[in-house]
Amino acid sequence: MTSRRVFFLTPGLATATLRAVPKRREDLPTPALIVELDKLEANLAKMAGHLKASGLAFRPHAKTHKTPEIAVMCQKAGAVGNCAAKLSEAAALAEGGATGLLVTTAVIGRNKILEGIQLAKKRPETIFCVDQNQNASDWDAAARAAGIRVNLALDLWVGRRTGIECGQPALELARHVSRLKNVRLQGLQAYSGPSSHRRGFEARAAATKEAMAGAVETRHLLERDGIPCSWLSGGSTGTWNIDPQIKGITELQPGSFLFMDIDYRRIGAAGSEEFHDFQQSLFVICTVVSQPKPDLAITDGGYKAFAADRGYGPELRGRADVKVGFGGDEHGSLAASGAKVGDRLEFVVPHCDPTVNLYDTLYAVRGDFVEAAWRISARGRSQ
Ligand SMILES: Cc1ncc(COP(=O)(O)O)c(C=O)c1O
Repeated sequence: MTSRRVFFLTPGLATATLRAVPKRREDLPTPALIVELDKLEANLAKMAGHLKASGLAFRPHAKTHKTPEIAVMCQKAGAVGNCAAKLSEAAALAEGGATGLLVTTAVIGRNKILEGIQLAKKRPETIFCVDQNQNASDWDAAARAAGIRVNLALDLWVGRRTGIECGQPALELARHVSRLKNVRLQGLQAYSGPSSHRRGFEARAAATKEAMAGAVETRHLLERDGIPCSWLSGGSTGTWNIDPQIKGITELQPGSFLFMDIDYRRIGAAGSEEFHDFQQSLFVICTVVSQPKPDLAITDGGYKAFAADRGYGPELRGRADVKVGFGGDEHGSLAASGAKVGDRLEFVVPHCDPTVNLYDTLYAVRGDFVEAAWRISARGRSQ
């Protein structure tokens, strides 16, 4: 008897591994994280084309997918490289063939900087963010000891999370970095998280322009001071069609546009309550495993299958009317859905990035067929 399972190789990549994967979508073991390739490719082509037409460089954020194959796919579509949130994420992506890495969070601590030096040796074009003098000096010392030069960018605080304040504090830090011999100042990074998810297009545009004005002004401040600054990277999926209007930004780093999720859909678009600028390509397939009551179906996908940080559950694909809840770590619940034990159901995820981080494998599907099983090799790499 021949096995239902086949072995195949993900084509063309150094990271390719031999795995047993079902050929058909209907045979994937659930809960299964899938991406529909037609939609993923369309999202990528739309963003890459838009940025090319806008004269902006494209460095998508790989924190969303954590998958080297997708990072390489982005590069083939015209991206200058890929962002990584953390050092270990960047290392996993580099291992899988990604280049032009920008590590968007500062690398703090001696051991981590030494790991960063290893990455810089392997990929000398990598850029690391700093937001204080001591960290820049630590990079300089480590680079000197290794006999290399490391690229640093100033992370600017534009409303949330990390970074140095725009204006004079950033100028002082830029002066400090410029004086160091073993690092090179790449420019500025400014990610305005609160703007990206601001509901309503007009409100989002206003918030983005206000947040990014300080970053653009800082760029001019550096240049007036004689510090070359031809690079300002920022932006997100939610602001993809707003950032190009802000003169002074040179590069965008969106991530979620590749997959999309409920959270992003809810931010609204110009003239619409919902944001459908990019297609939902990411889904989780679950199986109904129990039916305690006629109007209650229990699936095999709970908190371990969907990130629940947004405070709401997933959505049954094409059935927004069905109430979906969590039945615990391993189970989900559906009220009055008509689903029966054994049914396979597809769900839209509340928040794509942390959901992807729950899985080892992303199945790339086209129609009924599974084209590849990608290892999410940066999954869990949050160091
Ligand atoms: C530094 C940075 N840049 C860009 C992004 C991309 O944002 P999005 O997934 O909303 O496109 C993120 C997301 O958190 C981020 O942290």
